[in-house]
Amino acid sequence: MRLTILGGGGFRLPLVYGALLGDHAEGRITHVTLHDLDPGRPAAIARVLADQAAGVPDAPKVTVTTNLDEALRGADFVFSAIRVGGLEGRAADERIALAEGVLGQETVGAGGIAYGLRTVPVAVDIARRVARLAPDAWVINFTNPAGLVTEAMARHLGDRVIGICDSPVGLGRRVARILGADPDTAWIDYVGLNHLGWLRGLRVEGRDELPRLLADPELLGSFEEGRLFGPDWLRALGAIPNEYLHYYYFNREAVHAYREAQQTRGAFLRDQQARFYEEMKRPDAPALATWDRTRAEREATYMAHNREAAGAGERDEDDLESGGYEKVALALMRAIAHNQRTTLILNVRNRTTLSVLDAEAVIEVPCFVDANGAHPVSVAPLPLHATGLVTSVKAVERFVLEASESGSRTTAVKAFALHPLIDSVTVARRLLDDYTSAHPALAYLK
Ligand code: G6P
Ligand code: MN
Repeated sequence: MRLTILGGGGFRLPLVYGALLGDHAEGRITHVTLHDLDPGRPAAIARVLADQAAGVPDAPKVTVTTNLDEALRGADFVFSAIRVGGLEGRAADERIALAEGVLGQETVGAGGIAYGLRTVPVAVDIARRVARLAPDAWVINFTNPAGLVTEAMARHLGDRVIGICDSPVGLGRRVARILGADPDTAWIDYVGLNHLGWLRGLRVEGRDELPRLLADPELLGSFEEGRLFGPDWLRALGAIPNEYLHYYYFNREAVHAYREAQQTRGAFLRDQQARFYEEMKRPDAPALATWDRTRAEREATYMAHNREAAGAGERDEDDLESGGYEKVALALMRAIAHNQRTTLILNVRNRTTLSVLDAEAVIEVPCFVDANGAHPVSVAPLPLHATGLVTSVKAVERFVLEASESGSRTTAVKAFALHPLIDSVTVARRLLDDYTSAHPALAYLK
């Protein structure tokens, strides 16, 4: 089995490779092709992977290329984990929004729209090439904004592209742990868009255990989302929102905290990773140890500004456990390759799941997975307030897709102006102007 990773110089690659190294089963991935535009980064990452593979006799073989078509030919699975404009681009997305007094974040609000406008044309080009050169491959999209990018690719690949995010899995695991339930057997009732979903129940042996959590202030205060949103708000909602909903429910506080911060998250990661790739140029640098140290620092600062804004303090060691996107990706690949039926929360086309959205809209929902791909399960409808957010944000995503195709600035302005976290058409126009000046990749908008 051949796996091609686009964005193969990415910093999180050792996590994926580590998961592959643990798979010794028949039909496992035997060959990994790393594709990256910049040859230096995958070379640095390949050193870390070589360290990881030491002493593992059946370790997947790793090759590196900068030729996209060559990377795609013959692939059984393609992971797309690219970052158009790099972390410098992300830092600009965040900085420009904050200068206008609106949220500057990678995937939510103005920053997410700018990132989407840059990324969709590239993702569509990849999807077209996959359809031509590797029509039987399954594409697993990690590229953010993951829901939007998956929908863009699905227009060319149909259900052969599946988007993944670890945040709903992480949330499900944290809630299960707090309730003393086994996260692998509990049924997680979760639905929404990527980074915009709600956990509405957690069933154990057919009983919903969430009401027990919502009724217990002490339990509510003892995990990440409880501290981030506060027990009262979670009880009022009757659900546990994805942590990214902090940007909506506490927008003012989040914007304030982000403006006060010395650096945006993107700028922090840019500087930190530049140091890592630089250090890796030294032939005597201990590859795995350096990567591990840098990663620990990165994870520790994740969502730090939100927690500060919420007065939530440090993240608990236990809460650091994310869903592990590499584990989700591996479980998904296995289920497809070996018809090992399982259920995973994934980004797929809606079909008839949420009746307020059309069949093509990509949503995030528990899916039954087998050799035929991912099939969304039926879920209860969202309450009106959540439906309102989901449909507004989906409408914005549609304007991003339309603008990416037509190159229309008017449509791009609509994407910004109609986002619930951007409060003026004038601001939307200025944002587009500033983003176009900062990002050469947006020159296609006329
Ligand atoms: C979470 C999100 C991902 C995001 C990751 C890293 O897992 O679900 O979409 O890529 O965090 O965020 P960072 O700010 O470290 O890039
Ligand atoms: Mn995510």
